Amino acid sequence: MSFKIELINEKIIEIKEEQTILQASLEAGIPHYHACGGNAECSTCRVVVQEGGEHLSHPNKAELSLRMKKKFPENARLACQTKVMSNDVKIQRIIRDETDLDLYVYENDSENLQTVGEEKSMALFFLDIRNFTPFIEQHLPFDVIHILRRLNIMFSDIIIKHNGKIIEFTGDGFYAVFGFDEPIKDAINNAYTAGKQILDSLIGLNENYITKYFDHKIDVGIGLHSGKVIVGKTGVNEHSSYTVMGFPVNVAARLESATKELNNNFVISEYVYEMLNGRSNLAEQKQIKLKGISEPFCVRLMGKSYNY
Ligand code: FES
Repeated sequence: MSFKIELINEKIIEIKEEQTILQASLEAGIPHYHACGGNAECSTCRVVVQEGGEHLSHPNKAELSLRMKKKFPENARLACQTKVMSNDVKIQRIIRDETDLDLYVYENDSENLQTVGEEKSMALFFLDIRNFTPFIEQHLPFDVIHILRRLNIMFSDIIIKHNGKIIEFTGDGFYAVFGFDEPIKDAINNAYTAGKQILDSLIGLNENYITKYFDHKIDVGIGLHSGKVIVGKTGVNEHSSYTVMGFPVNVAARLESATKELNNNFVISEYVYEMLNGRSNLAEQKQIKLKGISEPFCVRLMGKSYNY
């Protein structure tokens, strides 16, 4: 019996039941890298499975051990160890030239080795500090930066404690994601709890420090949504950082900016709301307009109103 493998952007090839993907690929004339000769030692034969992962043989001991060592994502497989068992599949080679080889293999950085882009369901969290411009205008540069640092340390500690990762700090806010290593329901609940904790902690920080010493009250707006996004690392060396993108990211950003018009400091999508553990039906529901979507978008107000 034989099946078809689509090597994306290259060629559709035949594979026999007894062949590994590497053997079939080489037989079809593809210059498939295999530095260790197919012994599950080098990882240069790695492919990303785009469709039909369930039709592949399970990773054997050798592949599992290299996978653990190099921290491959779930959809990366060693072509030299993998066979096609039951139907056609779509895959993509990772190492296609010498630059790819430097980037993914010789750099020998386990963090970078797992950075093949993948699609993942994640919780997307945007926070923006409100009414900060008057504070900037009325205080010394030292104080402005000092307060931003205090806030960012507090935000960052809470996000990390709930398994989140901050993707980017903007001047007066940040963008974080949850769900790198946990099921999406847990990620959503963690992100929600982090949001609540940030709002609670802010009350204390305002009372005991910012209002006390700077005569100012910091407010924030938080937007939370979840969906399938593309995640991977696009930077290099010390500039290496995660990139998370896709339409759900834009939605989460829009929810954060909607906190102002809805006069509520924590706005989440209905989808997130339905995934929350122990939710009540008391949270107020609203509809907002989203760019690119004709239907009104349903949100829940989970925070408090601003007292401007
Ligand atoms: S060829 Fe080296 S791991 Fe597959």
